Amino acid sequence: MKRIALVLSCIILAITANSQTPKQINVNAGKLISDVSPVMWGVFFEDINFAADGGLNSELIKNRSFEFSDPMMGWDEYVDKGKGKSLVTFHYPANQANPRYLRLSVNAAGGFYGLANEGFRGIGLKQGAKYNFSLSASLVEGKDLGLTIELVSPSGELLGSSVLSGFGKGWKTFESVITSGRDEGKASLRLKFSGTGVINIDLVSLTPVDTWKGRKAGLRKDIATMIADMKPGFVRFPGGCIVEGRDLTNRYQWKNTVGPLDQRRLFINRWNTEMRDRQAPDYFQSFGLGFYEYFLFSEDIGAEPLPILNCGMSCQFNSAEVVPIEALDQYIKDALDLVEFANGPVTSEWGALRASMGHPAPFNLKYMGIGNEQWDVQYIERYKEFEKVLKARHPEIRLVSGAGPYAGGELFDYAWAELRKLSPDLVDEHYYMAPEWFLRNAGRYDKYPRTGPKVFAGEYAAHWKSGDRAESRNTWYSALAEAAFMTGLERNADVVRMASYAPLLAHVDAWQWRPDLIWFDNSKVFGTPNYHVQKLFSSNKGTDVIQVLAGGLPVSGADSLYASGTIDRNNGLVILKIVNSSISGQQVRFVVDGVRADKIASITTLKSGKKSDFNSIDNPVLIVPAETTAVIKNGKIDVSLSPLSVNILTFKYKK
Ligand code: AHR
Repeated sequence: MKRIALVLSCIILAITANSQTPKQINVNAGKLISDVSPVMWGVFFEDINFAADGGLNSELIKNRSFEFSDPMMGWDEYVDKGKGKSLVTFHYPANQANPRYLRLSVNAAGGFYGLANEGFRGIGLKQGAKYNFSLSASLVEGKDLGLTIELVSPSGELLGSSVLSGFGKGWKTFESVITSGRDEGKASLRLKFSGTGVINIDLVSLTPVDTWKGRKAGLRKDIATMIADMKPGFVRFPGGCIVEGRDLTNRYQWKNTVGPLDQRRLFINRWNTEMRDRQAPDYFQSFGLGFYEYFLFSEDIGAEPLPILNCGMSCQFNSAEVVPIEALDQYIKDALDLVEFANGPVTSEWGALRASMGHPAPFNLKYMGIGNEQWDVQYIERYKEFEKVLKARHPEIRLVSGAGPYAGGELFDYAWAELRKLSPDLVDEHYYMAPEWFLRNAGRYDKYPRTGPKVFAGEYAAHWKSGDRAESRNTWYSALAEAAFMTGLERNADVVRMASYAPLLAHVDAWQWRPDLIWFDNSKVFGTPNYHVQKLFSSNKGTDVIQVLAGGLPVSGADSLYASGTIDRNNGLVILKIVNSSISGQQVRFVVDGVRADKIASITTLKSGKKSDFNSIDNPVLIVPAETTAVIKNGKIDVSLSPLSVNILTFKYKK
């Protein structure tokens, strides 16, 4: 009897737990707390993980003009019944930015002699797609030299080819189009010379015809589209530590990245040797993706460009060199000239260069970052000098300064205290922390001062520390923790005006840093769960923050719930975001006041069963958003939140 009573009471308890009274969340959609910055959710682009060359830059030939430190890196001799002389590199004084070319002595009657290029960990080809091939050549001697260009699979299968001839004295560009016979992610390119003679070659290029916006040698379309689909409010570029350089000689200098392609001097990428266990000796910056292309892409996708400039300091984790204050003028001039390049009239020196590159209209630059992750007195001293000049000469430009690499602590506090005495418009904060930190800190900005510089959460990502596979640290739990934290950013949108996950891109075969938002190989690209979180927040931004409370308090972790809300005054929408970080489902009742709500709410949910789940290049859609609806009755919406889920509710309203 006792046992039956026990079982019965267990059953009753279980039923009660299942049909628990929903947690009530009060939404006052008539109470507008602050506007949401139109550029709130953006992207952080850094040339790390082969994000530029081998990634967004559609160029498929690695070391295309033999300018890597090892001039033949990426190239191999190709011999097929022909003979040739060893390949020699020469200096080409007429072009300081591109000093080397290659001389081939060919003796290949009845056969071929030439070169093969391995691409960026292979060349990605699509069946039926067309590829523009070009090279610069000048004949030294011989009459019958011909060139067959072939695309081949790793097993040597011919996938496509074209033929060029008519080489003569003097440098000339030769072009052809090759169609690929099938999909291949690891193809290589062969340059097969026939006949007898000596020829100089340079600037070998292969790019898909089908690029982003169809621009010749433009951006890789699938990657650019993934970024555009996020509808980012801004594009921060070019980094990151890459701005700083391991030393000042190797800092990023935007002027070297603009103008004709063959005038952009190739540079070692700082991530080439940065990570001891992820060395990338073939990682360079050709600047095929340079400042002009960043501005153009930002414009294409309706995002504000946010360039970050070196402030006269190299990376403090490396050489920590500083430029004496008396010698900072050159760095400040680079900043002034950049404003001219972006916004100046075509009659100005730098505006004229922009126009010559195809964009006479200004890019309308509004933001500029001074220094990346710099710290201590030396940073403040240098930032002050930039601010003095830029605020006087360009009061229209909003300045972004930085709080250093850490989420808190002495250097962080020092930076904020000093910057509050100055006039930056935004202060860039970085946090690469554990998922639990993000959950605990969802209320980080609830108590920030409401006056003074605003916050730019310029680099953040929840770091899950285990998982061998490249993409495996972009776990569902890390994405969920970021979403929970982002409800706190949104609730404090009067203080936090911009935010971006970091880094943006990574090649599965060539990464140095993880986790990253978007992964790709030579043929495919996919979004991590973190990408879907960013995209959901960005495409459901709203114009104004509204009040969302449970028991009179922000919904910021109690009962494993995190929530925020906005309205979109342009489209007459209420947008609610709610994260359930519990491994159990939860019942929630939203009680909406202040507006007349429609009868149906749309719900977009991102969820996964296990915290460690992740999307991968082989299974890219394990975690993707799904749509449902809920009924709204007298302003009440009952929602069953799945365990470990991120949910966006939207519904129409009338005042
Ligand atoms: O995003 C990767 C690196 O993290 C950035 O280059 C740097 O700013 C930060 O330390």
